[in-house]
Amino acid sequence: MSDAPRKIIIDTDPGQDDAVAILLALASPEDIEVLGIIAVAGNVPLDLTQRNARIICELAGQPGMRVFAGCDRPMVRPLVTAEYVHGKTGLDGPQMADPTMPLQDQHGVDFIIETLRREPAQTITLCALGPLTNIATAMERAPDITGRIQQIVLMGGGYFEQGNVTPVAEFNIYVDPQAADIVFRSGVPLVVMPLDVTHKALTTGARVKAFRALGTEPGRMVAEWTDFFERFDKQKYGSDGAPLHDPCVIAWLIRPELFQGRKINVEIETQSELTMGMTVADWWGVTGRPSNALFIGSVDADGFFALLTERIARL
Ligand code: RIB
Ligand code: CA
Repeated sequence: MSDAPRKIIIDTDPGQDDAVAILLALASPEDIEVLGIIAVAGNVPLDLTQRNARIICELAGQPGMRVFAGCDRPMVRPLVTAEYVHGKTGLDGPQMADPTMPLQDQHGVDFIIETLRREPAQTITLCALGPLTNIATAMERAPDITGRIQQIVLMGGGYFEQGNVTPVAEFNIYVDPQAADIVFRSGVPLVVMPLDVTHKALTTGARVKAFRALGTEPGRMVAEWTDFFERFDKQKYGSDGAPLHDPCVIAWLIRPELFQGRKINVEIETQSELTMGMTVADWWGVTGRPSNALFIGSVDADGFFALLTERIARL
């Protein structure tokens, strides 16, 4: 990491795993300066993702964080949500009071455009934890900002793990494949955290116990969110815990050495309903198409959870 904290905008559809990612970012001021958090429709509708984003900021003790509402539906396709994983509120597990901190009046897409035009070029990283609707909409509405983005680090897609919402498509890409196509064709340097790596970051009993053992409200919340969130994947995959997807994005910014991947070409299926939202990842370099993404394949899971626990203990 360079000396100065990395300036980021988080785009998110909380979601319990988004929540842990946001807590990690807010607990790491020496590494990350969060300029704003933008909710997008995804795991649950926008009215809930924007509420949940504010709940998470208050849990982190940062009610002054600017939270924006972005797009309430994908660019072309109808919204697909995932209450079957995240529960009706999107943060099911513990009882959570409504937030009292305000939602910003400005639309989240306008915040992205305004921030990228104001800040020096190549100094802002976009961290996408949900469907890419807000980022792609900003690129379409203001093409001049695309070249100003330092990097986009996103959770989405899959190659060896293929899909989790269809046999070949991962949820964030599947919900808005047109948006993903715009982002993956944009030329902005991409770091992709696909299911290939997130499925190696499992919330085992010992790891959840470590969160609970922090004895803090954030530690308890993370443990209770995980207890709820993991039931679906444990049943589906028969695994010891569930993949903690979105915190991989933030952890990469803090300790990239925990992750391994390769620069490859990744394109998005937007034509066939059968394979809609598939990330066609040229892992073996057979197409000759230009590399547009650092596609992450593995993680030091113990190191990842140690970082998560150590940082969340600070809140
Ligand atoms: O497929 C996993 C992704 O979809 C995660 O970002 C999760 O929060 C959901 O948005
Ligand atoms: Ca998410």
